[in-house]
Amino acid sequence: MRERTFVMVKPDGVAKGLTDEIVARVERAGLKIVSMRRMKLDRGLAEELYSVHRGNDFFERLVEHVLSGEVVVMLVEGERAIARMRELSGATDPAKAAKGTIRGDFGSSITENIIHAADSAESTRQELSLFF
Ligand code: CMP
Repeated sequence: MRERTFVMVKPDGVAKGLTDEIVARVERAGLKIVSMRRMKLDRGLAEELYSVHRGNDFFERLVEHVLSGEVVVMLVEGERAIARMRELSGATDPAKAAKGTIRGDFGSSITENIIHAADSAESTRQELSLFF
């Protein structure tokens, strides 16, 4: 099934110069980057993006991190795009992510884990509506 998904290179990924590497991995997987934008989030947008995590002890750390520098947001499209971007990203905690995945290869902590990719059809719709 052809789908759209929302992807964001987080400030640690941008600062490490990984945007082009991530674009290349997405394209090599046969997925299409329909739109892409480098930007700075504001607090309202960051809290909205991560609203499902509000109340968790890591929420403030997560929001502070995504506000700490520029991010690159992407609208990605293709067959099973949601699941395939999750596969390319790897497990949330880089220590548990397989080698060959973006987080496994480049992530340094569960907060500084390089990339965000929407995890369901519903979150995709909500997250895309914030940016595209
Ligand atoms: P992301 O894919 O951006 O979606 C939510 C983020 O919350 C996740 O990546 C992690 O960076 C962060 N996160 C999830 N679980 C934890 C946790 N247990 N401790 C700290 N951060 C977390």
